[in-house]
Amino acid sequence: MSKKVFVKSYGCQMNVLDAERMVDTLVPKGYVATGRAEDADLILLNTCHIREKATEKTFHELGRLRALKQERPDLKIGVTGCVAQAEGAEIMRRMPLVDLVVGPQSYFRLPELVDQAELGLRPVDTEFPAEDKFDRLPKRHAAPGPAAFVTIQEGCDKFCAFCVVPYTRGNEVSRLASKVRAEVEDLVERGVREVTLLGQNVNAYRDGAGVTLAALIRDLARVDGLKRIRYTTSHPNDMDDDLIAAHGDVEKLMPQLHLPVQSGSDRVLKAMNRKHTRADYLAVIARLRAARPDLVFSSDFIAGFPGETDRDFAQTLELIDAVGFGAAFSFKYSARPGTPAAEREVLPDAVADERLQVLQAKIAHHQYATQASMIGREVNVLIERTGRSAGQMTGKSDHLYPVAVSGPDIAIGDLLKVRITASHANSLSGEIIG
Ligand code: SAH
Ligand code: SF4
Ligand code: F3S
Repeated sequence: MSKKVFVKSYGCQMNVLDAERMVDTLVPKGYVATGRAEDADLILLNTCHIREKATEKTFHELGRLRALKQERPDLKIGVTGCVAQAEGAEIMRRMPLVDLVVGPQSYFRLPELVDQAELGLRPVDTEFPAEDKFDRLPKRHAAPGPAAFVTIQEGCDKFCAFCVVPYTRGNEVSRLASKVRAEVEDLVERGVREVTLLGQNVNAYRDGAGVTLAALIRDLARVDGLKRIRYTTSHPNDMDDDLIAAHGDVEKLMPQLHLPVQSGSDRVLKAMNRKHTRADYLAVIARLRAARPDLVFSSDFIAGFPGETDRDFAQTLELIDAVGFGAAFSFKYSARPGTPAAEREVLPDAVADERLQVLQAKIAHHQYATQASMIGREVNVLIERTGRSAGQMTGKSDHLYPVAVSGPDIAIGDLLKVRITASHANSLSGEIIG
């Protein structure tokens, strides 16, 4: 009789991929994944600590699971991810229903920890082991779709004043390029046509043999059958000459780049410890555009950082106009315990709320404009899933916009040439031309 594990994931793409990898570790123990918490023998909450709201979700969800656990005392509940890393001991103290806690660096130990939990122990593992955690994870089990994520780097050494990631994910560690290539080749053999290389600071990638991200991308571009390469998330200071050049000369590297800037004000950037100015950022964008004129950029912004004035905020809006982002995420500043900025005086909530709204409207304006500029253009779409209506299929364009197409005989995994005919709120539609 197989046991069932249900994983609920919050936060970034790396967390979502980690969830899949956690299930992989449990397969040899006879576990299969289920989409229903009610059916599970083991529930893992794979948490995110980035903003207060994200962390609150963990405790809210645990509250909801209490009833399920009362009905079925055999049910085991684990907390994983970045809240586990940051507040593991605290969770165990406050939440008697939790049976195990494990941080992102120790997922390879999950089978052992589940054994301990089954014996009634309540293990907590939030170590940063010296060995390469990727080496300790089993081969990927679940059938991948046509577009897959591959973690190549984890952790961050940047210490932006607001951010918990350097504490929850630890120092920057890069996987060996040869191992990344082997994983990509395996995925391609199993039908993958697009890979997104993941890291908290992915363009700081440098493996033990000195291979840089640009060199890795050039190497992966030679994998037969792999059609598209993307990478995320990058820091502006780590966009080196070779990586910028790769955007111009590696055809498989897609013309879309997520490059968080956070603010358009030098004063705020300094207070955030971003270690780059507005001009530095704009210069990187200009060089990337020179290498690949049709690059579409996305970014992250924080509204209401401590000390942000109306003038600072206006400079952020100006920067958005100057770049013309094709999409962006924006967040209201959230003070995180243990980070330097948490010691500073926060702005009134109403001010931050209003700025966030203005920021979102500005971003939406540029997103619509960029999407509208696609109408009439020929793009390539990698079909990933069935669409909303009968006969409709959807996939991503080179520029990472979701595109819906209709027609007979379209299959998941097809890479189609499409003429964009219309732009909607967060997607495009088009007609197949080849
Ligand atoms: N380089 C990372 C960034 C992770 S956090 C990556 O891999 O994506 C994603 C975004 O969350 C950041 O770029 C920032 O805009 C936002 N963020 C981080 N800490 C925050 C905080 N304390 N309050 C509000 N937003 C925050
Ligand atoms: Fe956080 Fe800054 Fe590192 Fe991004 S670069 S993960 S925002 S500390
Ligand atoms: Fe959240 Fe951790 Fe990712 S804090 S954004 S899950 S690295």
